[in-house]
Formats: sequence, structure tokens, C-alpha cells
Amino acid sequence: MDITLSVIKADVGGYVGHSTSHPDVIQSAKESLEHAKQQGTLIDYYVTNCGDDLQLIMTHEQGEDSKQVHKLAWDTFVECTEIAKSLKLHGAGQDLLCDAFSGNIKGLGPGVAEMQITERKAETIIIFMADKTASGAWNLPLYKIFADPFNTIGLVIAPNMHAGFRFEVHDVLEAKRISFNAPEEIYDMLVFLGSPGRYSAKSVYHRATGEIAASASTQRLSLIAGRYVGKDDPVCIVRAQGTFPAVGEILEPFASVNIVKGWMRGSHHGPLMPVSFGQARCTRFDGPPRVIAAGFQLANGKLIGASDLFDDPAFDPARQRANTIADLLRGMGPFEPHRLPLDEMEYTTMPEVNKKLAPRFQPIDE
Ligand code: F6R
Ligand code: MG
Ligand code: MG
Repeated sequence: MDITLSVIKADVGGYVGHSTSHPDVIQSAKESLEHAKQQGTLIDYYVTNCGDDLQLIMTHEQGEDSKQVHKLAWDTFVECTEIAKSLKLHGAGQDLLCDAFSGNIKGLGPGVAEMQITERKAETIIIFMADKTASGAWNLPLYKIFADPFNTIGLVIAPNMHAGFRFEVHDVLEAKRISFNAPEEIYDMLVFLGSPGRYSAKSVYHRATGEIAASASTQRLSLIAGRYVGKDDPVCIVRAQGTFPAVGEILEPFASVNIVKGWMRGSHHGPLMPVSFGQARCTRFDGPPRVIAAGFQLANGKLIGASDLFDDPAFDPARQRANTIADLLRGMGPFEPHRLPLDEMEYTTMPEVNKKLAPRFQPIDE
């Protein structure tokens, strides 16, 4: 049975500030998707939030880029925005960058990760959702999961994974894509993946079968809007078990803390802290950046779950390490590398300050 899994997300208003989402907004999204399920548009759905981002997790039989499913997501976000406006939530509708839906939700603001699959006898799926970070945040974990034998022992000892995985990498500035075969092309691939502000891992495929293994949202809000409008706060779908890495191999990269862009005013580096659903509230300096992992088994498109996969004391040391890194970076205040380089900050006063002080700059006599 061919099933499409669509994860479409947007920040339609924060409560309080940009820290988390309001229960009435989440409830409104659930009602909208329940209606679509009753109408037969969706097989099933799961609604959740990570920080101030609302995620619509949907299964259906309409394939990727379905106009009907994308319109459903858009209309749901519009209805949620109305609730957010009535409660005067912060930044109501902030990720809806266009006034009207026009066939596909990509390019209108919300982030999208989709995959069409033939459901296996047991179809294990993990959906990662992050807040206060940018679309390249999955590059390092996806590399470790699908290309690093020190993380994924299955690459070495599981015969059905030994041929490796193919990565599709997007140049988000120039809208170009390229594929790399791991393991033989990893040195070339890392030249690009190691620079996540410009290059994002979009999808990963099992080389022996060609089956899709992972799909990430790569939309960059600032590139769509041409100005600062908030952080991408990306999502990523990963298939697990059998010919794909085990659940534990997929979660393992988050045990060692990755430093990402996007903390406070989209202008700071911070540790990506793996947290339980209940801890996905960005309060300290509007962060630190968070990631949650929702695990599901699919049963003929029905979402059996979610299992809150980072709700585990085994990730306590990672949370502790993230807090230590947060302390260290915060100690630097407005200095780089805590603050992002000048050309990457989402907020800046540099043009005004520079203009005001231009007459005071004197040539240096060497
Ligand atoms: C939002 C974010 C926050 C805001 C900050 C200022 O994703 O990262 O840190 O940038 O709270 O928000 P405004 O400008 O809306 O007052
Ligand atoms: Mg927000
Ligand atoms: Mg957010």
C-alpha cells in the first residue's frame, strides 16, 4: 500500500513571546485535521508543537505535493492564526508570508517534509522537529546516521545496509541540487554538508533498493521573504529498522551536542538540546535551540504513536552538556562566535550605526 507522509509546519503565533504554542491553537489544528480525516482527505493525523512551531503530521494516499493536502495545511494555519490573533499571541501568522494559497504550500512560508512509501510489514518512523534553528541543522545528524560507522554500526555489520546510502544535497541560495554516494564520496560531500547555512541535506536513499530513507524541510524563510521573518525551525522524517538504521542509531547523534545557528533573534549559535515533548519550551534567552523526536509505527497509514523518544534519562547527560555549552556561549554576550558573523545575523543595527559614525572614521596612516 502506497502511503504519503506529509509533515507541514509553521509558527502561527507564540505563547508566551516565542517560547511555546497555545493549547487553543493546537486544538484548532486538531479539529481541522479531524474534519479532513472524516471527509477522507487524510488517513490519519497527529498534531504537536516544538516551541512556538505547530506541526501537522498527516498520512494520505495523494502523493507528495498534493494540492488538496497542502491547501488543507494552509487553511488550517489560517484558522489557527485567527485564534492566535483573537488571543493576541505574539507574532500571529508570522510564517504565512502570502495572502492566498496558490497550489503548493512550498514558498509560502511553512516548512514541508514529505515522503511517499510502500508501507513495510512493520514501518517504523521517527519525526524530528526543532525550534530556534535553521534548515541545515539536520546535516550533521543525517551524516552520522547514514554515513558514519562510528555512529551506525549497521553500516559495517548489517548485510542489508552495507552498500550505503545516497544523499541529495540542496544549495539553498542558488536552488541547485547534487547527489553523493556514501561511503565513497564522503570527503567531497562534507565540503558542502559542513556548511549548513548554504547547503542542506534534503533526502537520503538506500542505495541497494533506491528506497527513500529520510526527508527534511529545507525552506529558508529569510530567502523566501527577502527579509528577517523568523527562524526556519525545520522538521525531518527518518525511516527506521530493517534496511534502515535502528531507532537507537537514529537517535544516537543527539547524545553528543551539535551547535547550531538560530538562538535569540536568529543571530546566535547555541547547543541543539534534545528534549521531551513537555520540555520543548524555549525560555532561556529564547532557547536554547530544542529538538524533539516523535516515534510512530504505521499501520495501513494509521499513525500508531507518538512515542516521546527523548523522554529518556539516557539523554540527561546530553541536556546537561547542552546547558554547559549554553553557559559558555552566553558568557561571550554580544561577541562572535556566540553571536553570528555580521552577514548571517537576522537582526542588525550595523547599517544605521555605520552611517551615523561614518564621518568619525579617519584613515589610518601606515
Ligand atoms: C524567534 C526568536 C526570538 C525572537 C526574539 C525577538 O524565533 O528566535 O528569539 O527573535 O524574541 O522577537 P520579536 O522581534 O518578535 O520581539
Ligand atoms: Mg515565533
Ligand atoms: Mg519557532
